[in-house]
Amino acid sequence: MSTTTLTETVSGVRPPSLDDLDPEERMSRAELEALQLERLQQTVRHAYANVPLYTRKFDEAGVHPDDIRSLDDVAKLPFTTKEDLRQTYPFGMFAVPMEQVARIHASSGTTGRPTVVGYTKGDLDRWASLIARSLRASGIRPGMKVHNAYGYGLFTGGLGAHAGIEKLGATVIPMSGGQTARQVQLIRDFEPDAILCTPSYLLTITDAMAAAGIDPHTTSLKVAVLGAEPWTNELRRELQSRLGIDALDIYGLSEVMGPGVGNECIETKDGPHIWEDHFLPEVIDGDTLERVPDGTMGELVFTSLTKEAFPVIRYRTRDLTRLLPGTARPAMRRIEKITGRNDDMIILRGVNLFPTQIEEIVLGLEELTPHFILELTRTGTMDDLTVRIERHPDLSVEVCQGSAAVLAARIKEFIGSSVRVQLEEPGTLPRSEGKYQRVYDLRNQ
Ligand code: DLL
Repeated sequence: MSTTTLTETVSGVRPPSLDDLDPEERMSRAELEALQLERLQQTVRHAYANVPLYTRKFDEAGVHPDDIRSLDDVAKLPFTTKEDLRQTYPFGMFAVPMEQVARIHASSGTTGRPTVVGYTKGDLDRWASLIARSLRASGIRPGMKVHNAYGYGLFTGGLGAHAGIEKLGATVIPMSGGQTARQVQLIRDFEPDAILCTPSYLLTITDAMAAAGIDPHTTSLKVAVLGAEPWTNELRRELQSRLGIDALDIYGLSEVMGPGVGNECIETKDGPHIWEDHFLPEVIDGDTLERVPDGTMGELVFTSLTKEAFPVIRYRTRDLTRLLPGTARPAMRRIEKITGRNDDMIILRGVNLFPTQIEEIVLGLEELTPHFILELTRTGTMDDLTVRIERHPDLSVEVCQGSAAVLAARIKEFIGSSVRVQLEEPGTLPRSEGKYQRVYDLRNQ
C-alpha cells in the first residue's frame, strides 16, 4: 500500500513492517476521515458540555455541537489561544472532575503564567501508545535500550517519552537532562541503541564525547529522536554524520498532548506524520485567520480528537509550517519540518528572519562551528543583529575570520539585511541542556 521507496538508513536500522503498525496507521484516507468525524463530534460535545470557556465561546460564535456534520465544519468553531489558557489558570479548562485527573504537566512559558494541562488515566495510556508508535516509526524496537535525556518533571518531554518507551517494550534509561559528563559516561557504559533529547542537546553531548576522547561514531547509538525545538536538515546531516546514527524529528506541544503529536518515519525522513486518528490539523493564515489549502505555509492549528481531561478546539500553536500528503503512512498527512514559530521571528529593519535560517547557513560553512547565539541591540532607532559564533578550535584565527566574513556576506545575500558577525573563543558560549536559547534581545536594556 505504501508508495514510498525504502531509503538506506545510516545506522542499518530497519523500518517497522506493516504487521508492526497500529491498525489506524494502515487505514485508508476514507476510513480515517470517518473515524476523525466521529471523534470530532464527541470531542466538541464533551468540550461544550464541560468547559465553561468553550460553552461561552461557542455561544458567542453562534455555533452548537450539532452543527458539526462534516470535518470541514470544524472551521465554524472558534479558535483557542494560549491567552485562553492563561486566563483560566490553573485548571479552568479541565473537562473532567479533578478526581479523574491522573497527572498534571505545565510548560514554563517565557512570559507570564505557565500553561497547565491535565490527563486522565485513559489520556496517559493513549499518549504512551502514540509515543510508542512514534518510536517505532523511528526504527526503535522492543528490546532496545533507550537513553531518555528529555527533562523529567513538569515538562512533558521526560515523563511523556518514558511511558512510551515502556509501552513499546523497550528498556528505558531515565537519565533526564543536564549532567552532560554523566550522560556521556552512561552512554558508554550502558550501550543504549537510541537517545531521546533536543537536537541542540545532542550536539552538546556529541562535543562532550569528543572532549572525553571518545569518537562519537563508535558509540552503540543508532537512532536519535529529536524535538521540542526547531532544527534544520543541515543539523540532521551534521549529527547523523558525526554520530553515525539516524536522526528523526518528533513533534508535539503540551497544550495538545506533549511529544508524539507527530513523528517522522525512518524510511522517508520527510517531516513528521501527524497522528491524525488523534489530532485534526489545519493551517491558517495568521492575519486573516482563514484556513489555507494543504501545501500552503501558515500557522498550525489542532483540534484534539480523543482527549478527555483537556480537549482542545482549534488550538493556535504559533508554529509555522504547511500540510503535505502522507508518504510512509499514506493516509496521514505530514507537516514540513518546523523551522520557526511566530514568537521566534526576528524583524530586523523590516525583514523577517528565523534563527533556523542562520543555522542553515552556518552549518553550510565547514570552517565554522555550530555554536552561535544571536543578539539584538538598538542604536538610536536602528536595530542591529550580531551573530556571536565560536571559532573552530583546529583552525587559525585568520582562517576563521575569513569564514566569519563569508558568513556575514551569505546572510546578507539570503536574508537581505546586514548583520555583524563576532568570533568567540572555543567553548565560551552557553551550551544547550534542553531547549536552547538562541536569541538574546538586548534592545530594551
Ligand atoms: O516541547 C513537547 C515535546 C517534548 C516535543 C519532547 C518533542 C519532544 P512544549 O514545551 O509545550 O512541548 O513546547 C512546544 O516546541 O509549539 C514548537 O514550537 C516546539 N517544538 C516541539 N517539537 C518540535 C519539533 C514540547 N520537532 C513547542 N520541531 C512547539 C520544531 C518543535 N519545533
